[in-house]
Amino acid sequence: MGKEDLIYMRRAIELADRGCGFVNPNPLVGAVIVKNGKVIGEGWHERFGQWHAERNALHAAEEDTTGATMYVTLEPCCHYGKTPPCTEAIIEHKIAKVVVGIADPNPLVAGKGMALLREAGIEVVCGVEEERIREQNRIFLKYIETGMPWVVLKTASTLDGKIATYTGDSKWITGEESRAKVQEMRACLMAVVVGIGTVLADDPMLNCRIVDREVRQPVRIIVDSNARVPLSSKIVRTATVYRTVVAHTRFAKEERLRQLRACGVETLLCDEEKGLVRIGDLCRKLGKSGIDSVLLEGGGSLNFSFLDEGFVDEVYAFIAPKMIGGMNAKTGVEGEGVPKMADAIDLKITDVQHVGQDVLFKLRINGKIR
Ligand SMILES: NC(=O)c1ccc[n+]([C@@H]2O[C@H](COP(=O)([O-])OP(=O)(O)OC[C@H]3O[C@@H](n4cnc5c(N)ncnc54)[C@H](OP(=O)(O)O)[C@@H]3O)[C@@H](O)[C@H]2O)c1
Repeated sequence: MGKEDLIYMRRAIELADRGCGFVNPNPLVGAVIVKNGKVIGEGWHERFGQWHAERNALHAAEEDTTGATMYVTLEPCCHYGKTPPCTEAIIEHKIAKVVVGIADPNPLVAGKGMALLREAGIEVVCGVEEERIREQNRIFLKYIETGMPWVVLKTASTLDGKIATYTGDSKWITGEESRAKVQEMRACLMAVVVGIGTVLADDPMLNCRIVDREVRQPVRIIVDSNARVPLSSKIVRTATVYRTVVAHTRFAKEERLRQLRACGVETLLCDEEKGLVRIGDLCRKLGKSGIDSVLLEGGGSLNFSFLDEGFVDEVYAFIAPKMIGGMNAKTGVEGEGVPKMADAIDLKITDVQHVGQDVLFKLRINGKIR
């Protein structure tokens, strides 16, 4: 692998990022076309259902692409999906060499795309910046391999670990910059999940309030065994504007579910365990409905259930330089807790950032680092 390969593949990775939030549950893909040492075309997968990165780059090419090299972060597709196969376009445009970042684990592609290109006489190299591309596409890779959504648990707490004062006040723990980052996360992940305790305490909107650019709104999901969410809550009153789902158990009354549906809320029956929504069943059903990623925003009881049952992949912990005390003040992870330190949920810090006055810890559940 030459230095040039790294430079162009890194540019393709950069381009792929521009699709963040718009392509789910598809992968983030970027492509660069190089001829005689000059970039003649760039593209990325911009919107779900629209052209893939390769076609966009070919379309953007300023010169004849005959004999050029294409750098693409993910193996080109060879099947008819929402768009025709990219391998066809690459062959038609007489590309001489394709440098692929990683092979596509999608069983419809999985090596077949590269084999088709080779059959057409195109030189194919695979495996450049694999680690970065796998990291960039961690949502897609988990979803395609398991059918389960990638779950990011976000907490915003004081230095002494509280997410609300003893009176329940939680506005605001973190600063504006941290809250803006959470808005970005809502735009990038497909759904926001909260427990009914949080809806009753805070009456949140859970939408994405970025106004200076186009964003995709997340699906709002309330985990609410008995469908107690008030019809007067902001979330129910706006259900016709923002897609809203109440995940409940068989204990919810049919009449109540009908009332919610009349307000535009979707109801999702999940298996129950000890009267509560079984998290594994909820995740499986969300995955089945096409949701590849979830931002879990609490509260502490629901967070613990997700962690305890092993459904969290990544944690974003915003810590504000404030202390509020109070033995009855809520913390980010509550539930029953684990009995011994040996049972602790182990995390690995992947990044630490200053966000305004706050500190953001990014962590992965151990053993889940790709
Ligand atoms: N600072 C922050 O980042 C932040 C974020 C969110 C929330 N909060 C605070 O957190 C507090 C609410 O937290 P909370 O712990 O009381 O409530 P919660 O976690 O939001 O909701 C818990 C409720 O969800 C339902 N549920 C259904 N299935 C469940 C399962 N498998 N596991 C756990 N719960 C399940 C249960 O009610 P049913 O039995 O009725 O179904 C349970 O009582 C509020 O004070 C809020 O302000 C702070």
